[in-house]
Amino acid sequence: MRLLFNLAALAAVIPFVLGQDDCSVSYVYADVSSSVEAAPSSAAYPAGSSTLATSVKASSSAVVSASSLPAASSASTQPASSYTAAGSYPTTSGTSFVIDGEKSYFAGTNSYWIGFLTNNDDVDTVMQHLKESGLEVLRVWGFNDVNTTQSSGTVYYQSFIGDEPTINTGPDGLQRLDYVVKSAEAHGIKLIINFVNNWTDYGGMAAYFNWAGISSNQEWYNNTKAQGQYQKYIKAVVSRYSDSSAVFAWELANEPRCNGCDTSIMTTWIADTSKYIKSLDSKHMVTTGEEGFGLDTGDDGSYPYTYTEGTDFVANCAVPDIDFCTYHLYPSSWSVSPAQAWGNSWIENHGKACAKLGKPCVLEEFGFETDRCTIESSWEATSLQSAGNAGDMYWQYGDTLSNGQTSDDGFTVYYGSDLFDCLVTVHVEAIDAA
Ligand SMILES: *[C@@H]1O[C@H](CO)[C@@H](O)[C@H](O)[C@H]1NC(C)=O
Ligand SMILES: *[C@@H]1O[C@H](CO)[C@@H](O)[C@H](O)[C@H]1NC(C)=O
Ligand SMILES: *[C@@H]1O[C@H](CO)[C@@H](O)[C@H](O)[C@H]1NC(C)=O
Repeated sequence: MRLLFNLAALAAVIPFVLGQDDCSVSYVYADVSSSVEAAPSSAAYPAGSSTLATSVKASSSAVVSASSLPAASSASTQPASSYTAAGSYPTTSGTSFVIDGEKSYFAGTNSYWIGFLTNNDDVDTVMQHLKESGLEVLRVWGFNDVNTTQSSGTVYYQSFIGDEPTINTGPDGLQRLDYVVKSAEAHGIKLIINFVNNWTDYGGMAAYFNWAGISSNQEWYNNTKAQGQYQKYIKAVVSRYSDSSAVFAWELANEPRCNGCDTSIMTTWIADTSKYIKSLDSKHMVTTGEEGFGLDTGDDGSYPYTYTEGTDFVANCAVPDIDFCTYHLYPSSWSVSPAQAWGNSWIENHGKACAKLGKPCVLEEFGFETDRCTIESSWEATSLQSAGNAGDMYWQYGDTLSNGQTSDDGFTVYYGSDLFDCLVTVHVEAIDAA
């Protein structure tokens, strides 16, 4: 475990705290995330994710401070020397990862909201807590697509209003993500950054529909106009951080699905997009962000093993420019049980598939509603022990920031809680002892 961090670097990112400003900017932390969507028949979000959602306000002073802080304004203008040596970009070695020169299994987590915070101190608080806890990798939303006019100060990254989409590189745009990357660098945290959502939270593929003249995700994957803009967006993000040691991997999408499609549509899209990303940045790893559906290994006949969602886990994982493979685990959303045992098999079966492909697997999101310490720690232990699995990242990180607690979608694990101790502290100790 690497608990030491560079104090000098940390001091450099402590933002200037400006006075409170009373024109406050409202920010909804709690748009339900995504992943909890899903059994094929379920039309809407499960009750847990929307009913437990809470709105939190963020102070506008942070918006001002972000724009006035030169360090946060553009990561791409940083001299190369401010980053750690090229040799330290995270990479794979067989079915393992090498992070900062160390070959080890990692524990990580997810925060979809961190790039939408407007207060730099809050970003630093999260990064520091991750570092102290031994959580090495944080997965963040690298997209925030809108198709309606946003109120002043609301963070968004890409807009589909008007004849041509625009990418927001301003202080309420990608400069917020710049600060996340900068703070991650200072604290030695690695980031998985993705480019679009299958779901409509923060826009997603649906935000492209009207402009591209399509009406479904199924059309999005091979629509020339949609893919052209998606690649422009990828280029805008990748070029900002292509030299950053804080990038663990680029990720094509959050939970891409193409329901009812031939799986070749998804695999072709993965091959084309990953190749494009490598042409922009060959130093960083690339992964899919998929849920792991469509798998013959250990197939028990349940929905997640089928190819219904248009994804073939092995074919996607085998794509040459995909460095490692992701899968998620939500037994209740997928209507599979018993959660603990079913999940353990799901983890072992993906590990076996990855071992066969010679690439690491990451259990990239997982969650359950009840008995969480017992069930989820069992999954973590299985992932740590089973060949082919090289990291796990629970959904989702929670903390208490300047405006109170972050979003609780029913799957949140708050820093410092008993559940955090169970799923993070104990797990990190087990990793260090392994
Ligand atoms: C705007 O985006 C939302 C969210 O992604 C989507 O559901 C909606 O269909 C889009 N509307 C238009 C007119 O494109
Ligand atoms: C996209 O895929 C569908 C289904 O296979 C096919 O009919 C269509 O021609 C493809 N479109 C393009 C632009 O490749
Ligand atoms: C996500 O993908 C699935 C499968 O294609 C689809 O049913 C669902 O509607 C998608 N979400 C959105 C917002 O389009």
